[in-house]
Parts: sequence; structure tokens; C-alpha cells
Amino acid sequence: MSEIKFSERLNERINVLISRFPEDKKKSALLTILHEVQDENNHVLTVPLMDKIAEILSIKPIEVYEVATFYSMYNHKPIGKYMLEFCHTSPCCQKGVENLMDYTCKKLGVEQGQVTADGMFAVKGVECLGACGYAPMLQLGDYFHEFLTPEKIDKLIEDCKAGKVEMISKV
Ligand code: FES
Repeated sequence: MSEIKFSERLNERINVLISRFPEDKKKSALLTILHEVQDENNHVLTVPLMDKIAEILSIKPIEVYEVATFYSMYNHKPIGKYMLEFCHTSPCCQKGVENLMDYTCKKLGVEQGQVTADGMFAVKGVECLGACGYAPMLQLGDYFHEFLTPEKIDKLIEDCKAGKVEMISKV
């Protein structure tokens, strides 16, 4: 039995998500539950958190791990306040995203996957985000930043530092 305790709000939300599926298909709520649990836990899904989800869904922990480690939107270590997720699939690569990632890493003084010493930024490569026509692009929170250039990246980082960047869409 897991020692982890979710907040009342999170438990209620999980119950609503599970109720959308037949009793023997509770696992269908897994992707959304992972998002909800991650959001309430500093954007990091630890093993104990994933074990708790498995317990709630009456599935094996491995069934949670295999999903949570497959998709890049789930994090298993701290990501920093602003995680710059660059698409590094072919169309974005052809438009120079790798150079832009190198540029960004150098500018922030990190390697890909690392968080800056002040905990503000991380740079991550992810698979196609479905905005290939706007390559090269990155995702920050709920928003896409497209047709990237070094100048646009400079401005985005400055805006983040100034607290001017929205992370969550109001839609
Ligand atoms: S290849 Fe980058 S968004 Fe599709």
C-alpha cells in the first residue's frame, strides 16, 4: 500500500477521469491522470507517484512506467521553471533546429536535459509536435514558438526572465 497521499482536489479529479470509462477499462484514464499528478508534483513523476497511480487503477506498476517513460511530456527529474522543448524531428532539423538548440544550450550554460543553476531553464529535444510547417519550433508550457531564430530565442529567454511569458493557455 502506497504511502503517497494525493490532495483532495487531485483525488476528486482522478475519480472523475476514471468514471468516464467502464470499470474494467480504468486504465484508459492513465495518460490524463499522469498529467494531473505531474502538474501537482512540481512537474516530476517519481516512482512512488507512479506506483500510487498503479494502485488506484488496479494495474501493475510496470504498466504505468512503460507509458510514463515513452512520452516526452512526462518528466522524471526536475525540469526548471521554463522547459524549452525543441522539436528535433526531420523537418525541424532541416530548418536548423539542432544549431538553435546548441545556441540555446551555450547561452544558458547547460547541456540538453540539464537545468540551469538558478532552476529557471532546461533544454530538451522532443519528437514532432505537429507544427512542421512552422519549423523550426519549440514548445514552452502550452504555447508553440515558431520560425525560430537566435534573435527570437534571445527575446523569449529575456521575456521569461522578466516574467512576461505565459505558460498555460486560457482556452
Ligand atoms: S518536425 Fe518539428 S513540428 Fe513536426
